[in-house]
Amino acid sequence: MEVIIQPNSQKLSVIAANVIRKAVIRKPNLVLGLATGSTPIGLYKLLVQMHKEEGVDFSKVITFNLDEYIGIPKDHPQSYHTFMNKHFFNHVNIPKKNQYLPQNIVENHVSFCQEYEDSIRRCGGIDIQVLGIGKDGHIGFNEPGSSFASRTRIATLSKSTLEANAVHFGDDINAVPEMAITMGIGTITDAKQCLLLASGLNKKDAIAKTIEGPISAMVPATALQMHPDVVFLIDEAAASSLKEREYYKRSYENKIKYS
Ligand code: F6R
Repeated sequence: MEVIIQPNSQKLSVIAANVIRKAVIRKPNLVLGLATGSTPIGLYKLLVQMHKEEGVDFSKVITFNLDEYIGIPKDHPQSYHTFMNKHFFNHVNIPKKNQYLPQNIVENHVSFCQEYEDSIRRCGGIDIQVLGIGKDGHIGFNEPGSSFASRTRIATLSKSTLEANAVHFGDDINAVPEMAITMGIGTITDAKQCLLLASGLNKKDAIAKTIEGPISAMVPATALQMHPDVVFLIDEAAASSLKEREYYKRSYENKIKYS
């Protein structure tokens, strides 16, 4: 596990964007796992800038989104389809056929989820999975109690997640869709590399439990402790409850010095 602590979220986005830029240059048909929410917006902005100003080419890149709400139309302002178009897909040259997102309907979800998993496998697996984290320690919409072996499936959002996401639905918790299709924890941890970004004081408890707490299905992100290549990119506020933060900083400084 690598823990990188930076003064603010902009710096985290820069590091994440550089990792992705290098990877796309090395492997033009990179398979990227993508997240939505407030956290990766700065990252997408930088990737768009790299495409427009430096000509970084995404024409062979394949993307798989972590999750999508069930029960709101794809063109709803808060759907993750809309989010991805607005923040990323409309501004780079990833072909439509390479953009995979979970469906927004419950019908045939079992076969849809199986097909989603098969598509990931057919593309050779996810090279880099971008993740945010919920206050309750969720990754994707894998809420506390999700099996570490779980695969893409239908899931119910926890109360903590409904409350956190209400801000995007006019502060009306009843307007937040209660269900979603999400990649499972097993799907996520199959990615060759995971990049988890977190910023802000409201993430400090989830981050402390995830990095330094016992591995438990009650804190789904702790599954990442067993991943061979996971990078936690966190700002000072989100890192503020980590006991070993000085050590993580020293390790990162040494890595930069000697690489
Ligand atoms: C979104 C997702 C979620 C978010 C998490 C944090 O695709 O999978 O796990 O990453 O809820 O959301 P923000 O970034 O809005 O705090």
